Formats: sequence, C-alpha cells, structure tokens
Amino acid sequence: MDRIAITGGVRLEGEIAISGAKNSAIKLMAAGLLTDEPLRLTNMPRLADTRFLGLLLRRLGVEVTEVDDEDGPSMVLHAPEVTSAYAPYDLVRQMRASFNVLGPLLARTGHAKVSLPGGCSIGARPVDLHLKAMEALGAHIDLHEGYVYAQAPRGLTGAEIEFPIVSVGATEHSMLAAVLAHGVTVLKNAAREPELEDLAICLNAMGAKVEGAGTSTITITGVSRLHGATHAVIPDRIETGTYAVAAAMAGGEVRLTKTRADFIQALLDKIEEAGADVIPNNDGVTIRRNGARLKAVDIETDVYPGLATDLQAQFMALMTLAEGESVIRETIFENRFMHVPELARLGADISVQGGEARVRGVPALDGAQVMATDLRASVSLVIAGLAARGETVVNRVYHLDRGFERLEEKLGACGAIVRRLKDDRTEEG
Ligand code: UD1
Repeated sequence: MDRIAITGGVRLEGEIAISGAKNSAIKLMAAGLLTDEPLRLTNMPRLADTRFLGLLLRRLGVEVTEVDDEDGPSMVLHAPEVTSAYAPYDLVRQMRASFNVLGPLLARTGHAKVSLPGGCSIGARPVDLHLKAMEALGAHIDLHEGYVYAQAPRGLTGAEIEFPIVSVGATEHSMLAAVLAHGVTVLKNAAREPELEDLAICLNAMGAKVEGAGTSTITITGVSRLHGATHAVIPDRIETGTYAVAAAMAGGEVRLTKTRADFIQALLDKIEEAGADVIPNNDGVTIRRNGARLKAVDIETDVYPGLATDLQAQFMALMTLAEGESVIRETIFENRFMHVPELARLGADISVQGGEARVRGVPALDGAQVMATDLRASVSLVIAGLAARGETVVNRVYHLDRGFERLEEKLGACGAIVRRLKDDRTEEG
C-alpha cells in the first residue's frame, strides 16, 4: 500500500486551486439515476470515491464518462434505462455514500436491493433515518442478510418527515427520492450544509421543485419526470479548510483559489483567533503566518454553519504546537479521535475523555511512522508532518486518496516536501 513521506519544517508559499466538493459530487452523481437524459457535472473532483461510485452506477446501467475540456474536469452521467436495481456489498462497502442510490432507484424503478454500507470507521453511523424516510415516502422496507430490499411499485408519495437529529446524508437521500414522488414532501430539521443547497440547485435545473434547501425546512413538490442538465459542483470546503490549517501550521503565505471562504467561516475565525492572518477575497482566501507561535484556542464541532467535524482532526494537529491548552469537543460523531494516538507518536500531548480532547501544545513535533485511520484523520497527520522535525511517513494512504485530489502535487507547488512512496518502496513524482 502506498505511503506518503513528508519532510517537515518548510514554510509554504504559493497558491492552491481547490477542487470540486467530494461530498457534493457523490450525491450529484446519484441524481444521474433520476433521468433518462444526460446529466453533466463540471468542476468534478477526480478521487477514489467518485471512481467507486462510477463503478456502481455503471453496474446499474448508467453510462459514466469522464471528460477534460475547457470547463476543466467534468463527468457525464446518462441512464436511458436503469438496467439493474441491485447495489452489491462489494461496491457499497467501499463508500458509505453509495447507499444513496437506494432513493433514486426506488423513485425511478419502484424497487431496489442495496447493501447496507461500510465507509469510514467513525462511530456506529447507522442508516435508520434514511430507511425511516423511505418508509415515510411509502416504500416497503425489509432487511435481510445485510441487504435492504425496498419496494414502491406504485411510486413514492410525498410526506412530512421530521428528522429527530440533523443528518446530512438522510436529508440528501430524502430529497433524491422525493423529487419524483407524487405530491408534496416537507423535510423538517433538515441539514443546512452547502452540499444540500448544491444538490437542490442541480435537481431544480433538472426540472425538480425543491424550495428551502440551506434552511432547516425543505419543501419538495414531486414531478413526474426529470430532464438532463449541466451543473457545476461547488468548491470543496473541507479541502479548503484543510489547506488553510496546513498553511497556518507550516507558516508562510498560501492563497487558496477557486473556493469560498464563507463556507468555512467558523474555522477561519478560529485560525485567526489562534494568531494567523486570514484574508478573504472574491476567489477564496489567503492564510499567512510569519514566525510567531500560535495560541491555543478551543473548538466545538457542530452542524453547518458551525465548525465541520471533517475539520476537527486537522485543527487538532494545528493545536499540538500552539502555546497553551486547547479543548476540542466533537459533537457529531462518537469515536472520532482515532488520530490522537498517531499524533502522539509525533510527540503531541493529548488526552481524551468521552467526546472531549485536551491538547497541550508542545514546542516541537518529531517525524515518525504513523498510520492513516480514516479520511480526515489521515490528512491531519500530513499537516502535523509539515511542521515536525525530520521525516514523517503516513502509512495506508488509500484513505487520503478517497478525498484529496493530487495532495502531494498541491502542497508541493507551495514548497512542501511531500513524496508518495509506492508499495514496492520506490518513489513516484
Ligand atoms: C456526511 C459527510 C461526512 C460528514 C458528516 C457530518 C458525506 C459523504 N459525508 O456524512 O463527511 O462528516 O456528513 O457533517 O457527505 N445518523 C444516525 N442515523 C442515520 C444517519 C445518521 O443516527 O440514519 C447519525 C450519525 O451516526 C451521526 C449524525 O447522525 O452521528 C450525523 O451524521 P450525518 O449527518 O448523516 O453524516 P453523513 O451524511 O453520513
């Protein structure tokens, strides 16, 4: 398995163009199942996760074409006919979000057999809310040998669904199913993440009637068919936030382009409070830190517009070198501190109790061999490695490849010394 080697202590200077949002792209791809006309997605990230989902969609009868043209990387999804409504375990287990084909399959064909998902190992991550929503829309659901069997032979019917907790995935999934239901669906206590609004804009461009996305009440008036459309994926706020933290950690000045600072305002406020300069502009944001040691600040993850749980591990890496003690509270997922023992291998001083981590800043980190445990945790180790003395080697980087496009190249362009070590221990570009 590939590894990433980082030689720490180099300040970052330069520009990083942010890719399209992974978490938006994979839901938009599922929308390709809803129409017999082509859906063209521009600003598509090229990632292991989008490739996995492409494989699954092909299995269901969708023609998936990746194109690089004047609009940059794009993808065309075309499903004149859905030839199978069966999403097997070997494909769904690779990525939890592939479970989101269930709703579109049900809406388009009236039935589906979809494996229960795998995905990142951060807490239990059940799909009960997704299944309850499908039932509320009139589907009959059976669970058998790890599969969900769903039936709605006469189509789905609009309903009022109030989520007991805010779930990004369940809100998106309900939206993907309800657009083709008979009648009106109202989603209450809906997630408000920018990816939801992006999905609604795309669905509306396809002829759907979705109102209120980005607020906690979303109203969807079902239509009988959707048509093709072209839609640009929003910038990846987690990639943006990750490089913002990387710049603050390594020091120097990095301009993040093709993105939106407002998507990560909660994080930028904390970076500024810690002592780095944050300079937003029309096309993104510049992060600058010259010499001075950062100060410890406390954070608490929250649903949007709060500080994203997907940026918690990165911020913790930043705090390992800050002056003082920082309290980091994780409120979205249980068991999302797997990076703590790995950061400790580099010399970080962190203790965890329940959903709270206390990070006591140390004067320096020292490079070591570490293990990537999940997607966001992996990149926190890269960030720590950028500031550690000597060489840090992150093992099992397939997690990184799931969510970060050309990471070595993007950081390398700013002067970081980051190399990919191939499995046979030879190096690549
Ligand atoms: C999405 C993101 C993920 C991010 C998370 C929270 C994608 C592909 N992934 O994940 O990167 O960390 O939002 O912003 O977009 N829950 C239930 N039952 C359910 C569904 C969720 O109990 O049926 C719980 C989860 O265990 C978790 C909480 O709800 O504790 C929030 O999860 P959710 O918002 O659904 O996260 P995902 O959509 O899986």
